Amino acid sequence: MKTRICGTGSALPKRVVKNEDLSKIMDTSDEWIKSRTGIAARHLAVEETLVQLAAEASRQALKEAGIAAKELDMILAGTISADNILPSLACELQRELGAAKAVAFDINAACSGFLFALQTADVYIKSGQYRNILVVGGEILSKLMDWNDRSTCVLFGDGAGAAVVCPDETCGILSGVQGSDGARGSVLSCVGRRNNNPYVTNSTALSFVSMDGQEVYKFAVRTVPKAIAEALEKAGLTVEDIDLFVLHQANIRIIESVSKRLKVPMEKFPTNLSWCGNISAGSVPILLDDVNRRGLLKKGDKVVLAGFGAGLTWGASVMTW
Ligand code: COA
Repeated sequence: MKTRICGTGSALPKRVVKNEDLSKIMDTSDEWIKSRTGIAARHLAVEETLVQLAAEASRQALKEAGIAAKELDMILAGTISADNILPSLACELQRELGAAKAVAFDINAACSGFLFALQTADVYIKSGQYRNILVVGGEILSKLMDWNDRSTCVLFGDGAGAAVVCPDETCGILSGVQGSDGARGSVLSCVGRRNNNPYVTNSTALSFVSMDGQEVYKFAVRTVPKAIAEALEKAGLTVEDIDLFVLHQANIRIIESVSKRLKVPMEKFPTNLSWCGNISAGSVPILLDDVNRRGLLKKGDKVVLAGFGAGLTWGASVMTW
């Protein structure tokens, strides 16, 4: 028994913010951002909430899968920017969709969030415990950015993607690898709410995402090719067998480096970062939906998904579409 993605969906906020728009409000330029990252624009939430974006993406995925929300056994949401601390995004999504019988919870693995949620769904399905699982990855990262820190805020965007997974005899997930390195977590962090109980003296200043860009870059280019190679070996496949590599969209230079290290042409690495930026847990499912809707995935194709990010965390999955 395998876990097959049988429907995908995605939703981006309406407001498009180009690099030129940012250069009007901070000391940056289209040339700097594009040449270092490949990002030209991103969508930022102005009116939308994350649960609205996630619900829109989920409805598309359910429709393609031919499954009603009330048939869902589980909802897993990869996110670090749920609208509320309580309830979770997954529980809010359950309410929005009317998925009454689903068990719902969030997974915090930053940019690996969708991969970790997908691999968790795979274990539940293989164990026979659940059949129909909605896996979501989405963020409104713009609320976690310091808009005075040009080295981070220009990189990220908002949006949500979804996939419905079900058991299948022939197609589906062949292998997966996951990893974490908490010892190096400080290179990409966002401090949470400070304790303010009556017995502590504390500042209540809000904290935003802070990043050592060059360390994160080195981590990504070393770890991602290794994770993909391990996942391929577990699946008994080689890079030549793979039709598409759907990678986390952080930086075009990272994707080019992975393509070079794996000796796979860039044509096999679709991208959306030029108009989406880095949407953390949303990147992989939004890109997967884009390639699915454009008809770039045929039944039987071999696909690799890979993500990496804060934690540090990373994951890769190999599947037959
Ligand atoms: N516009 C203009 N200048 C900027 C800028 C911006 N938006 N952000 C930073 N700079 C300046 C810095 O102040 C610094 O100036 P200085 O040299 O005078 O101090 C300089 O640009 C840094 O440039 P450089 O060292 O060439 O940057 P870089 O090549 O390391 O690129 C990143 C920076 C962030 C694009 C790159 O390190 C990166 O992509 N890292 C990975 C980040 C990532 O993917 N994170 C998410 C992982 S999930």
